[in-house]
Amino acid sequence: MKVQLLDLASQYKKIRKEALEEIRKVCDSQHYILGKNVAALESEIAAYSGAKYAIGVASGTDAILIALMAAGVKAGDKVVTTPFTFFATAGSISRIGAIPVFVDIDPETYNIDPAALEALLKKSSKGVKAIIPVHLYGQCADMDRLMKIAKKYKLSVIEDAAQSIGAGYKGKRAGSIGHMGCLSFYPTKNLGCFGDGGMITTNDAKLAERSKMLRVHGSRVRYYHDEVGANSRLDEIQAAVLRVKLKRLDSWATGREKNAKRYDSLFARAAIKGVLSTPRISDGCTSVYNQYVIRVKKRDELRAFLAAAGIGSEVYYPLPLHMQKCFKGLGYKKGAFPVSEKAAKEVLALPIYPELKPAEIKHVVETIASFFEKA
Ligand SMILES: Cc1ncc(COP(=O)(O)O)c(C=O)c1O
Repeated sequence: MKVQLLDLASQYKKIRKEALEEIRKVCDSQHYILGKNVAALESEIAAYSGAKYAIGVASGTDAILIALMAAGVKAGDKVVTTPFTFFATAGSISRIGAIPVFVDIDPETYNIDPAALEALLKKSSKGVKAIIPVHLYGQCADMDRLMKIAKKYKLSVIEDAAQSIGAGYKGKRAGSIGHMGCLSFYPTKNLGCFGDGGMITTNDAKLAERSKMLRVHGSRVRYYHDEVGANSRLDEIQAAVLRVKLKRLDSWATGREKNAKRYDSLFARAAIKGVLSTPRISDGCTSVYNQYVIRVKKRDELRAFLAAAGIGSEVYYPLPLHMQKCFKGLGYKKGAFPVSEKAAKEVLALPIYPELKPAEIKHVVETIASFFEKA
């Protein structure tokens, strides 16, 4: 039995007719940029996330970039984030000339460790303007503690919720807790479009207005530019597709959670305790399981074994950002963030998409168990 890491085709089959019809309507209207689908999707995502405003942009990466600009982060400012995330989080900081400053993660949630952040700021908060907590794999970071620290040091909080649309945190949802939130609609995300897309969420009218201005070359009135912004608009076709998908997002999230629970209980019964750990969801949090990530010591051997058995898996992420070639100039050394470095060697994402069948999950668990029996 082959099990793919992700099967977008079976989702597409279910929405194909409706999505293509909505695309046709956009083409017939000949209104491709910032039309009624983008406006409607912005209202729908704002409502979904529990934020007052949402601003569609060209990608999740651009959402972070524009959010940083809207928050007033300038070249030379410092922005704190985690080294255990997708590159875009820190890449966006660098692209505006600001300096990424890393702090280590919590070993169980893989999200930024508030105690490590506080320790860093206590030592020196000079030049630090913002923090970007990343809600990795589908679970929110410890936002209460982070917001408290941010308030103390007067920092903007930009949630990187690219992997976590709809994730619950003490009655709130990802993207509505910090000053701004950033969503990605990259095809592999829980809400993915037919290309690139992203969105900024916020409860702050000024930040919303500034983000809207920055996505159209810093212009409020056409051909008059108050600031240098970007060309970063979510297009109508993508928004139309996303609106079709958004209606199904809750049921897909339920499917992912069901699959995660099934994995949890099968792994618990598989007598491989001690060699494998399953995701830990913090009290007060609900995960939307963009990824179901296990942790094992012989990760690379297990991954090769699964691949040989026709089971897809992936490593998010194999090299922490402080060790990336492009960030050499930041001066971090190997060993600077041991929790992230260890996680990078041990994490493995398994298939978790909503259409996954119980028999496929059982097969994945049995194959993993057989690897450890042989070892
Ligand atoms: C944590 C995180 N941040 C940012 C991004 C960037 O989003 P995009 O690929 O839409 O630019 C992604 C997704 O790729 C992500 O997973």
